[in-house]
Amino acid sequence: MEIRSWTYEDIYAIAALEQACFRDPWSYRMLADTFFQDSTLALAAFEGGKVLGYGFLVVAGEEADVADIAVAPDSRRRGVGQALLGALEEAAKARGVKKLFLEVRVSNAPAMLLYLRGGFAGSYVRPRYYEDGEDALVMTKRIG
Ligand SMILES: CC(C)(COP(=O)(O)OP(=O)(O)OC[C@H]1O[C@@H](n2cnc3c(N)ncnc32)[C@H](O)[C@@H]1OP(=O)(O)O)[C@@H](O)C(=O)NCCC(=O)NCCS
Repeated sequence: MEIRSWTYEDIYAIAALEQACFRDPWSYRMLADTFFQDSTLALAAFEGGKVLGYGFLVVAGEEADVADIAVAPDSRRRGVGQALLGALEEAAKARGVKKLFLEVRVSNAPAMLLYLRGGFAGSYVRPRYYEDGEDALVMTKRIG
């Protein structure tokens, strides 16, 4: 498995994976727009030319939001998510980020367990954060 930055050509495959992984996926357009922002740090895991997973951070000063992370259903529980999260954290540190935060659906136990294992802690709940009315748990991690 290789982890590297996305290229513009990867966005099509990433958008397809996004569709397969979320009820409220980012569209190709949203992903492409975000990709071109200087504040975005976008990494993906590849194997044999196939995208196994991807994630991106949006950096604002000394903080960064883990805006998206997902792994293809047939590649889960192999450490891909953990490797991506670690690589995103290292890339954020190299940009001078001192604190990471993210929102996760309160029903999303696999993601919460991944983040807890990665050193994040639950901070507070954002009631009805998602369009369908579900609450988000905000999790944070100090990295600098
Ligand atoms: C959350 C997600 C990214 C995890 O990716 P992954 O590659 O399967 O995660 P890893 O294999 O690196 O797992 C790391 C650890 O997280 C925890 N974990 C991950 N998935 C889990 C699950 N389904 N059940 C229980 N624990 C889980 C475990 O502690 C795991 O370590 P272990 O396998 O040694 O027990 C993946 O399930 C996914 O893409 N989900 C859909 C998209 C999503 O919800 N993204 C997060 C949005 S906030």
